[in-house]
Amino acid sequence: MSAFDITVLQYLMAYGLPVISVVSLILCITKHFSTMRNKLLSRLVSSFDTSYERIMVVHKKNLFLPLHDVVSSDWKLKNKGLIRIVEIGFRTGENLKYYPKNSHVIVVDRNLYIHSYLDSNPGLTNNVSIEDLFVSSEWNLEPIADNSVDAVVGTFILCSADRVNLVLSEIKRILVPGGLYLFLEHCSEPLDTFLYKIQNFLTVTKLWPMLFDGCHLNRNTLQDIKFAKFSDLDYQYITVNNGHNKFSKLMRTHFIGTAVK
Ligand SMILES: *[C@@H]1O[C@H](CO)[C@@H](O)[C@H](O)[C@H]1NC(C)=O
Repeated sequence: MSAFDITVLQYLMAYGLPVISVVSLILCITKHFSTMRNKLLSRLVSSFDTSYERIMVVHKKNLFLPLHDVVSSDWKLKNKGLIRIVEIGFRTGENLKYYPKNSHVIVVDRNLYIHSYLDSNPGLTNNVSIEDLFVSSEWNLEPIADNSVDAVVGTFILCSADRVNLVLSEIKRILVPGGLYLFLEHCSEPLDTFLYKIQNFLTVTKLWPMLFDGCHLNRNTLQDIKFAKFSDLDYQYITVNNGHNKFSKLMRTHFIGTAVK
């Protein structure tokens, strides 16, 4: 190699490669932005879910306990001692393990990859029976008949729903009279706190919703649940300290509970 070649090579190494990498990265990102974002998000969400799940086990056990006493309004299911549950926002299926054995589950999710996720994790649905699976950009409950499900489960859905009230009225519509809506949501801090100002800033600038699938940090959707006028409402606030995740302070206050149609 001549000295000239070496200079060119060094030049290329110093500038060419980084420039080419950056340009191709930008091209790649713009071309595959939504795919990449979706994949990145599912990975982020599953890693968050894993460390978070450990913390939430006790709360979730309590939340899902009433499911074990539900008697189905569908006589065919009732005869077999089974119930029908709609889970809105299925994500990684982390709630399934709390369901009564052989529950009939209708999955409603926004993740276009949910089919392949379920296919690659066949063990996940060992103990339940997936009755139906609906995927849409907003959780669309329209295909589900009025008064047809014994329980609706929604964990972390209202923070990112486009129309919270619509989701809640749809939940009420599909539940049988006396049916249970089990919820677990994170919510904003009190309005006069510094943390709320950060939550609000990250939300109104769209930074947070863009990164986290439309999640709003500045909502307290318990108010919406109250306005939805369920016949009975039982809830508590909990503070979750997930030290492993540096964003967790922004989502430390949760409310968890049950509403009865
Ligand atoms: C299914 O049930 C068995 C027995 O109760 C349990 O050991 C297993 O972890 C359950 N699997 C899932 C995916 O929940």
